[in-house]
Amino acid sequence: MDILECINSKRSIRAYTDEIISEETLTNLIELGTKSSTGSGLEPWGFVIIRDKDEINSLSEMSKKYLLDNLERYPYLHQYEDWLKNPKYSIFNHANTLLIIYGNTESHWYVYDCTLAAGNIMLAAHSMGIGTCWIGFAEHTLNTKEFKEKYGVPEKYQLVCPMSMGYMKTKLTAPERKKPIIFHP
Ligand SMILES: Cc1cc2nc3c(=O)[nH]c(=O)nc-3n(C[C@H](O)[C@H](O)[C@H](O)COP(=O)(O)O)c2cc1C
Repeated sequence: MDILECINSKRSIRAYTDEIISEETLTNLIELGTKSSTGSGLEPWGFVIIRDKDEINSLSEMSKKYLLDNLERYPYLHQYEDWLKNPKYSIFNHANTLLIIYGNTESHWYVYDCTLAAGNIMLAAHSMGIGTCWIGFAEHTLNTKEFKEKYGVPEKYQLVCPMSMGYMKTKLTAPERKKPIIFHP
């Protein structure tokens, strides 16, 4: 796929086939992610891959419960209350793969760097027919001390991007966006 076509047509994908993404493909995607620019050349990223569907489901349930119990802290999530209360709703949209990106806080630039890496991964995946979605709903659950300990993430790493992924079930049309605000032409 041509790079401009890839950028223009990439969407957040929330419906996946059962096809498993191979380890080789995931490694390739992560390596492509790390080709992005990185402040002071520090490469502050670290990755966790989860492919156990029961674990993914349990993380979704934990996140839903946490958000519903603490909704007053997240006014920007009130509009999603009905989704979170729906027992059939999986915050990861029943994906069979989660790719989680953490940044080393020793680099001032870790949020920017990891976000650029996430963007690269999303575009590269799209070009391979793999859909991705940034899952902000998982922000708390995947950044707790307990979760990081379980998956070997050192304390000085902070969560930047929880990403669900899987082969696309349906192809969406290119995104429509507002006209960009250009403060000074
Ligand atoms: C920081 C961030 C957090 C997001 N969190 C969620 C989320 O929790 N659940 C979800 O389904 N989509 C989430 N999205 C995807 C957005 O809803 C999506 O990008 C937006 O609606 C535009 O659609 P498009 O990506 O298909 O163009 C998130 C996207 C970003 C960048």
